[in-house]
Parts: sequence; C-alpha cells; structure tokens
Amino acid sequence: MLAPIMSTPSCPTPSATSSPAPVRPLAIVSALHQELAALLARGREADFERQRHAGRDFLIGRLHDVPVVLVLCGVGKVAAATTATLLAERFGVGALVFTGVAGGLGPGVKVGDLVLADELLQHDMDASPLFPRFEVPLTGRSRFPADAALTQALATACEAVLAQPQPFGAAAEALGVSRPALHRGLILSGDRFVGAAAECAALRQALPDALAVEMEGAALAQACHDLGLPFAVLRSISDRADDSAHIDFMRFIDEVASRASAAIVDGWLSAR
Ligand code: ADE
Repeated sequence: MLAPIMSTPSCPTPSATSSPAPVRPLAIVSALHQELAALLARGREADFERQRHAGRDFLIGRLHDVPVVLVLCGVGKVAAATTATLLAERFGVGALVFTGVAGGLGPGVKVGDLVLADELLQHDMDASPLFPRFEVPLTGRSRFPADAALTQALATACEAVLAQPQPFGAAAEALGVSRPALHRGLILSGDRFVGAAAECAALRQALPDALAVEMEGAALAQACHDLGLPFAVLRSISDRADDSAHIDFMRFIDEVASRASAAIVDGWLSAR
C-alpha cells in the first residue's frame, strides 16, 4: 500500500513545455508517537523515504495511493508552528491534517468522542491591556478558521467510522468508551496540560463555546494562516481536562488514540 515518492519542490517553476504540475503531498501530523503509530504500521517503514530536518523525521510516501508526508511534530505551540512551516517550505505540502488527542471541555464532550475544529484559539495568549485577551497582537484575530472543505471531508470519514460497531476496538470499550459522537466547533490550545478542575472551569467560563483543549492546534492554525496552507485539526477526547486527566490521558493514548486517528485518516484518504 505504501510506495516511496520524491518530495515535490516547494515552489514549482512554471515551464514552457506545460508538464503537469506535481501533485502536492498531504501532510499528516501528530504530536506523539502513539497518535501516529497505527498509520505508520499500515505499511513497512522502510517503504517511506525518511528526511530529517530540525530534529524531526519526515516520512515521505503514499497511503491509499495518495502522496503523503507523515511527521511527529512534538508537543506544544512552537513545535507545531515550526513543523507547519517546514512542511510548507521544504516539502511543498498542499494541505495539512493534524490528528491527536485533546481534553474535553464542552458539556457533552466525553472520553472517546471526536472533535473537529471549525476554529482554533490560543487560550494562553494575553497581551491585555494593550490588546483584547486571546487576540494575537497585530493580527486583529483571536480565532483562526480551519479549511471548511477539508474539515467537511474529515467529518464524512468520522461519521463512517462512528457508524461501525466498536469503532475504536475492544480496548476503547474497556476504558468506558461507548457510542462515541462527533462534535464540531472551537478548539483551544495552550502550552500547558489542563489537568485541574479549577483551570478547566475557568476556561469554560471565559470561552463557553470551547469544545476541547490541547497544546498545538491553534499555533498550527496561525502558522497555516500566514503560509496560506489549508489545514484541519481532528482530536479524539482522551480525558475531561480535570483532576483525573493525567490518568485517563495515559490509558487512552496507549490503547486507543492511534487506532482512532488511523481509522479516520484511512477512510478520508481512500475516499479521495
Ligand atoms: N491533550 C489531551 N488532553 C489534554 C489536556 N487535558 N490538556 C491539554 N492537552 C491535552
């Protein structure tokens, strides 16, 4: 299923002999190994061309015959923004999908549910009183929208996976995940793990429409906005961002996260 491809140049030069424009690969990005492991296992790692830049391994190949670049970006906003920039500038990707886990904030968002970002915000951005709280100074924005078409394509793939019995396997059921649902809306990002009920409540009060919290998406969104790169962010809910978040997170990420991401990305790529 996997075959090596050459990376495409980031700025293809128009040629007089009108050769077809190279297909720009899709980037699939996760923060942690567990979030990407099942996708990598779809084929032999040796079938990817591996390029190392800025401390990251970029795996270039094909999944379901679609050219892809897979990469673990690391944790946090800077890691996400650096990775998005490398993917656009060095690998010439045409779109970027981030897949991983998040803590649930919205009232009906439970462990095992899926959340697709329609927009993202950095909850730890605060240059007040110079600028309104959460606004990225000099951009006039606090919320960065995800690409609508890409997000809708992933929503369709999510719905197909969720319609299956035991969509994320028996391990998920053993963790109490039953009848997972798909939510769409606002995802928050910040450079800290939210694992205390008081902090979780403060975020809910400040941003009542927030569905989930994680550590990369909004930074990636800001970088992609600057780069003109369409992107989407898909998260499965590993914990409720409360006092037991760290326990639920560790179990979920080891036993479920990888399977959830892979099932949806598989469905999405095979429908392209
Ligand atoms: N990723 C998964 N759970 C999270 C949480 N509670 N806070 C921040 N990032 C997360």
